[in-house]
Amino acid sequence: IENHLINPSLKDKKILISAGPTRESIDPIRFFTNHSSGKMGFALAEEAARLGAEVTLIAGPVSLNTPRNVKRVDVTTAEEMFQQMSMYYPNQDIVIKAAAVADYRPVVIHDRKMKKSDGNLSIDMERTKDILLTLGEMKTTQYLVGFAAETDEILTYGKQKLEKKHLDAIVINDVKAEGAGFATSTNAVTFVSKKGIEKDLPLATKNVIAQEILELIHLELKDEEK
Ligand code: CTP
Ligand code: CA
Repeated sequence: IENHLINPSLKDKKILISAGPTRESIDPIRFFTNHSSGKMGFALAEEAARLGAEVTLIAGPVSLNTPRNVKRVDVTTAEEMFQQMSMYYPNQDIVIKAAAVADYRPVVIHDRKMKKSDGNLSIDMERTKDILLTLGEMKTTQYLVGFAAETDEILTYGKQKLEKKHLDAIVINDVKAEGAGFATSTNAVTFVSKKGIEKDLPLATKNVIAQEILELIHLELKDEEK
């Protein structure tokens, strides 16, 4: 695609995007989270809205402004993100799960501050629901896109997630690569689709990467309509 983006129209398409980290409390003061800034998901929402889509953005705790013409729903925990995603899911055309969802949460959330004592602390953690896998299993006509954050064997692990979660495409992120990953405004990813597209999207701003991802999705959908 290089630099001659064809500016696909996403008019009349409903797109659901999740972005940012989730946050799992252990007591009223403290929580577990990750390094996600939400920038990639917000860039996707901004660019999709610019192309005319009707965009719903389910956002974890981030400090970013809501893009123009985007309906934003704020959530905190993985469970809340699941509730909101599954509510909006049924009549969407495209669903993109860019959020970095917590894989575990504390089994017990203390309602009073935990006090320190001498020695180490162990916290019992349980698995959260895999939102994307659940959406994949519920899929009817949605074009479902996941993200994969990997540090090694990135294509292998990414393709496994594409299969396992019943996705139409996956955007694989090498979080150790220069200029890619969490806090940066740039990214470099590989887009892999179930139909067999495999495309490296080299280092660029997250908005450019978002445009390229949306164009690839648009191409795949157009193919289907033929
Ligand atoms: N995901 C999700 N719900 C979870 C965990 C992950 O919906 N509880 C989604 C993410 O939003 C992302 C995709 O699954 O789109 C892959 O996330 P990633 O953390 O790379 O993979 P996991 O399946 O969680 O596996 P692991 O962390 O062990 O690599
Ligand atoms: Ca994970």
